Amino acid sequence: METLIELSKKMPKTELHLHIEGTFEPEQMFAIAQRNQVVLKYHTVEELKAAYQFTNLQDFLDLYYQGMSVLLHEVDFYDLTMAYLEKVHSENVVHVEIFFDPQGHLSRDVPFDRQINGIYNALKDAEKKWGMTFKLIMSFLRHLSEESAFDTLELSKPFLHLIDGVGLDSSEVGHPPEKFLRVFEACKDLGLKITAHAGEEGPPEYIWQAIDQIGVDRIDHGNRALEDDKLIEEIKKRSLTLTVCPLSNLKLCVVNDMKDHPIKTMLKLGLNATVNSDDPAYFGGYMNDNYAALIRQTGISKEELLQLAKNGITGSWMEDKQKERYLQELTSLFA
Ligand code: ADE
Ligand code: ZN
Repeated sequence: METLIELSKKMPKTELHLHIEGTFEPEQMFAIAQRNQVVLKYHTVEELKAAYQFTNLQDFLDLYYQGMSVLLHEVDFYDLTMAYLEKVHSENVVHVEIFFDPQGHLSRDVPFDRQINGIYNALKDAEKKWGMTFKLIMSFLRHLSEESAFDTLELSKPFLHLIDGVGLDSSEVGHPPEKFLRVFEACKDLGLKITAHAGEEGPPEYIWQAIDQIGVDRIDHGNRALEDDKLIEEIKKRSLTLTVCPLSNLKLCVVNDMKDHPIKTMLKLGLNATVNSDDPAYFGGYMNDNYAALIRQTGISKEELLQLAKNGITGSWMEDKQKERYLQELTSLFA
């Protein structure tokens, strides 16, 4: 088991499901709050950490939006992003595809340019320093209206050269993908890639909508696809990647025990499951911790570990040449 964990640390990895606002470590949150003279509801790091007990997605989101409220200036977005990139660079993550939630900041009068410039400059610096490549995904908050998503898309237009794709996140149940049909059509017309959180808490029907109506390029989470055999076949037919988040699933009670995590079942069914950290500062671990939890508790084999890492490469939006290079590196490492 320990040798598999060592191997998982050494593997070149991709992260395909990561909310940059979910990487806000309490220590950094308090430092930036002090710098910006923002008063947090919690008085100490310990008090804040003690609140990280969630029974569902909404419990977490309530805290997540409070946390991001200290981000005001471009440098705050830069520092947040750079801290995450430094962390995952040390874990052999070679390529990241990062979500940001513009509406979570626009609602506090933090303009779009401040957000995206801070995040993008950190990504570019990481690329220069370490050769770490990236894609940037603007995510719409699904508890808000489609009109608000359209307004956000409009604000993003001067920055479209920095944005690779769009996503859909926040409170899932009651906010199905079809609510955003027209805005995703507009995004597709602009040449953006499309992904959506579906089947984290929401029913298989929401995953059907994401595929059939929205025409997503990828599915974020997708756990509840396992309840519907026809849906499993459809996902396979379209070779869609699932960005699975094991520690997130445990913390948000999507699974009750890591031993019961369905990732092995997904692989056995031939689904392109990948491993990701979602909101690592809130869920108790970054990429290597997610792999270690799976290895320790679900007993994934060396072959399954290799498959997960390969799926992370093939399911990414990086160029084919780069994919081939990392797939070769993985093959050599596992030989
Ligand atoms: N926003 C940040 N993390 C999320 C998650 N796991 N599900 C939905 N929205 C989110
Ligand atoms: Zn997510």
